[in-house]
Amino acid sequence: MEELLLNKKHDEARQGEAYAPFAEDANLYTRRFYIESYGCQMNFADSEIVASILSEEGYGATRNVGEADLILLNTCSIREKAEQTVRKRLTEFRKLKKAKPSTLVGVLGCMAERLKSKFLEEEKLVDLVVGPDAYRTLPNLITEAEGGQKGVNVLLSRDETYADISPVRLNSNGITAFVSIMRGCNNMCSFCVVPFTRGRERSRDAASILQECQELFDAGYKEVTLLGQNVDSYHYVAETTSRPVTFANLLEMVALISSDLRVRFSTSHPKDITDDVLHTMAKYENICKYIHLPLQSGASRVLQMMNRNYSREWYAAKVDRIREIMPDCGISSDIIAGFCTETEEEHKETVSMMESAKYDMSYMFFYSERPGTLAQRRYKDDIPEDVKKRRLAEIVETQNKLSQESNKRDLGKSFKVLIEGNSKKSDAAWMGRSSQNKVIVFEKGTRDLKPGDYVNVRVNDCTQATLIGEIV
Ligand code: 5AD
Ligand code: SF4
Repeated sequence: MEELLLNKKHDEARQGEAYAPFAEDANLYTRRFYIESYGCQMNFADSEIVASILSEEGYGATRNVGEADLILLNTCSIREKAEQTVRKRLTEFRKLKKAKPSTLVGVLGCMAERLKSKFLEEEKLVDLVVGPDAYRTLPNLITEAEGGQKGVNVLLSRDETYADISPVRLNSNGITAFVSIMRGCNNMCSFCVVPFTRGRERSRDAASILQECQELFDAGYKEVTLLGQNVDSYHYVAETTSRPVTFANLLEMVALISSDLRVRFSTSHPKDITDDVLHTMAKYENICKYIHLPLQSGASRVLQMMNRNYSREWYAAKVDRIREIMPDCGISSDIIAGFCTETEEEHKETVSMMESAKYDMSYMFFYSERPGTLAQRRYKDDIPEDVKKRRLAEIVETQNKLSQESNKRDLGKSFKVLIEGNSKKSDAAWMGRSSQNKVIVFEKGTRDLKPGDYVNVRVNDCTQATLIGEIV
């Protein structure tokens, strides 16, 4: 019940996904690694960087954990539940290791950073512990672990962006890809563990981002999603020029690679998204009209305790501004129910803000206190679990109604859809997305189309989560 919607950001369907490469030459590799990923898109993108580093060392990916020489878990710390899942998996892997002692087991990502040597010393569950900024040292740590030592590196960096590493695309559909544009976060939202697990914010070299996007397009990809904890604070100054590249500049440069390459981005902080970004989105048809704009709470007092740096009114004005510049823009949100001291009135303010923002979709959670965060140090986690869950249920119910209404507004309209593949339910239907990020399913009919093609689809029907249409 903690995470209730399938989503692209914390896609429940992908949690614990075992990676296999999109295309690989089986003869190149002498050893096999198995990697399971948890958490946000950034973490899934990191697994592709890890795959690239390992492939240089002669490791190929496998989906079959039994044949792996190296088992990796790329972990998330954002809520307690995510950590519990990983612990359970580690216990299962320990059994595998007993049967085949030469197998190395490693923890990567945010939990590695948070729990550091606890995994190694107290729990003796793993051979390797590697934080998000230390993946380049994996080959050395593996060698150490093979020699019987424990391999640990959880140092955070001020400048690591893995800019020069070309990610090995894992489990890709060959059409859509994620591209990291920055790492870390400086926001210090009081509920959030990310500044501690991923460190200071740093922006990746713009030229390397453009090169990666160009290479993806040349390889047949038609959509890139630029990823960062707070993309609107992207800021890069090349050594050769003194002119900074802002996020609006970067968006424009990526959009100019080709009008056939769609550009998306995530996540935006309401306090940082600028008119410049909104105007750039409006100017280019291939920049998708969709913004993920987390609200967290609709009550100004709670927002202040969360250290979000905006009020209810300020947020509402930002939504109005988006709609003014792009009337057809999709907007989604993250919402936390039952943050410390939240009153019933304040909870109702969250619900009413959701209704006035008319979100197309939301990711909804109840508050989970995380050790080391500002909220854990400053405030009491005083909302009883049953109250948190009831408030969350009301928030989910509100969103379900809003999503249904949003889909109904699309009935009769036509959308340009990028085909991603077959529909899950039938090989006779395609599945794709509109610019607004809504999934549209439609019969293939007699048209000779393939994944990666754009096609206009008119919406005739809908469920809460999917639009159903026909080619026009
Ligand atoms: N408890 C519940 N939800 C959280 N989030 C982040 N930290 C917590 C927490 N401690 C949610 C926020 C954030 C999303 C990625 O996860 O809504 O935007
Ligand atoms: Fe991503 Fe945050 Fe989870 Fe780390 S803790 S994987 S940054 S959501």
